Amino acid sequence: GEIGDTPVYIGGQQFAAWKHTQLILDAVPGRGGMFSLDNGREQRFLVRGRAFDMQEIDMLDPVDRVRAMRAALADDPHRFWLDQARRISWSRFPTRSDDSSFDAGDFAISWFSDGELNLCVNCVDRHLETHGQKTAILFEGDEPGEGRRLTYRDLHEEVCRFANALKHLGVGKGDRVILYMPMVPEAAIAMLACARIGAVHSVVFGGFSPDSLADRINDCGARVVVTADQGMRGGRPIALKANVDGALAHCPAVDSVVVIRRTGADVAMIEARDHRWEELRETVSPDCPAEAMAAEDPLFILYTSGSTGKPKGVLHTTGGYLLWANLTYDILFGGRPDDIFWCTADVGWITGHTYVLYGPLSNGATTVMFDGVPGYPDAGRFWETAGRLGVSVFYTSPTAIRALMRDGDEWVERHDRSSLRLLGTVGEPINPEAWNWYHRVVGEGRCEIIDTWWQTETGGALIAPVPGETATRPGSATKPLPGVHPQLLDADGALLEGATEGNLVIAQSWPGQMRTVYGDHERFFQTYFTTYPGKYFTGDGARRDADGYYWITGRVDDVINVSGHRMGTAEVESALVAHPRVAEAAVVGMPHDIKGQGIYAYVTLNKGEEADDELRRELRQWVRQEIGPIATPDAIQFAPALPKTRSGKIMRRILRKIASGEADGIGDTSTLVDPDVVDRLINGSESAF
Ligand code: WT7
Repeated sequence: GEIGDTPVYIGGQQFAAWKHTQLILDAVPGRGGMFSLDNGREQRFLVRGRAFDMQEIDMLDPVDRVRAMRAALADDPHRFWLDQARRISWSRFPTRSDDSSFDAGDFAISWFSDGELNLCVNCVDRHLETHGQKTAILFEGDEPGEGRRLTYRDLHEEVCRFANALKHLGVGKGDRVILYMPMVPEAAIAMLACARIGAVHSVVFGGFSPDSLADRINDCGARVVVTADQGMRGGRPIALKANVDGALAHCPAVDSVVVIRRTGADVAMIEARDHRWEELRETVSPDCPAEAMAAEDPLFILYTSGSTGKPKGVLHTTGGYLLWANLTYDILFGGRPDDIFWCTADVGWITGHTYVLYGPLSNGATTVMFDGVPGYPDAGRFWETAGRLGVSVFYTSPTAIRALMRDGDEWVERHDRSSLRLLGTVGEPINPEAWNWYHRVVGEGRCEIIDTWWQTETGGALIAPVPGETATRPGSATKPLPGVHPQLLDADGALLEGATEGNLVIAQSWPGQMRTVYGDHERFFQTYFTTYPGKYFTGDGARRDADGYYWITGRVDDVINVSGHRMGTAEVESALVAHPRVAEAAVVGMPHDIKGQGIYAYVTLNKGEEADDELRRELRQWVRQEIGPIATPDAIQFAPALPKTRSGKIMRRILRKIASGEADGIGDTSTLVDPDVVDRLINGSESAF
């Protein structure tokens, strides 16, 4: 049998095994106990990630359980992963685990390939019997207290209806569906509905422009778009439906749009193409069978910026991704059945996929969906809301922490934070000052800080402290999770040992790894596996201290991390040169007090064009319109010429130094066609803001 299928007895009381393993550990940590199955069969049994024979079940505390996982993994990885696979429900349990290779000759990434399952069943259906009345989603709108709760049972009905509506619109297994949504429960419902029928969702963050949306729709070949009339953030409406209309002028393949009511604004509806969700909902049945999916069937595509070209469609598959979301949520954040978990990310980013939805829901937890911003209506919003909702685990970005720290302690202290027990961060390096403030002021010194390093490509966290197991250090993501094999390499690919600094690679596959770039498998291989043959290259640099702790230093490629969001320099450059008055542009990252990194653009104008503040404003606005507000340059320096080598290559190293105000560290410029350009750029950098 499977976890969740076979009842278990403790002290004569019957429980579903899945729920039970959690209860007992929390109730009697450190004490022994015995499970018996009602069919009397001998069965290997999973307690918090370690497989036990029925006879040897021992109560482990959460720290021991992760240590046991590491030991089991070292002992027999194949058996370990198949034991871990019992965390989730399969319609066909796998016999295979890792069949991956990063080598060019037999390149493949594949996990649990002969298993069959449905992600939606794992996140919804399997909880119905044991805790159907538990709150699955706690929605908090833009205005404090504007919200609603959906139990697992409510979620089940809504997801089934949405799935039937999608089917009604002709969506089937393997079809791509675009979501361009606010952070409302319907976003989760639509994602789970796609998973239920085997459709592949691709969520596009609501802050992206119509052009960016159109690029993504066309790249993945979606026929259906789900959106809302408007979004509402910080008291300001966001024209989601109007943006979709703008995008669809360039997307001939889209024939259906589902529009969810969020603000009730009057929006244009196009006959035959556009459907109101509230009307569709009434026409469909609340029952929908779940499609059995192969473990390696695609689950979702999420576009992310790289160092070159247009954003890539990162593709994740069903079994491995779900297992990694489930496992990492459990060991990092989960553990208590009455936890209220709040990850502040938007579902338009990977953090929103894995830790707003799939991690918590597959663990049967209560997850908060927040449709607002940290500073609205005031800088106390996070803590006011956390207190009111009784949030116990809170997960946000260093950018948000830095911004709130600047606003002062009193905004935190005026709200009751006694429900908090654990605090997490993600998305960018956190400076020790912000870490300490989060720990001391927000967490009153009693909550551990979990700094989690990962990427859209990794599906879930890879380097992060396990609460209770790993002693934390401000600014370090600490150590790899079980099954993760980081290495540091020098520029030539030589392995660096001990305390050192270098380029961060992962030497072996893990279940949550991306499987391909949608529609361009060659680009996938080229991007991640050719810089250091046989290894996955993260694009990050890191330091490792004498105790084996990792300290991520940031991107070593042409990707800028703005407020924890990735922006490709090439994308911003191509937006700038699309402006009629711009001849050439080069974009680099610069240090930014709040956002971590800001966007610094060097712009050369066409002959005869006049550089002034008016044009600077216009270019900023132009980039916002072309890509979206997150791409807005923080600084634009008008440059008569850019530093180029004889082969015409722009020396970005120099541009980065000038943008960071480190002009004295520029070093050798002798390979430049015109070394004087550098002095002119240094002199002009004052006026870039
Ligand atoms: C890049 C990935 C992970 C989900 C959100 C961002 C940076 C992420 C950390 C951290 C230092 C971090 C890296 C990484 N990053 N987390 N804890 N410490 N840097 O996902 O948009 O795919 O960006 O974010 O540079 O490569 P993403």
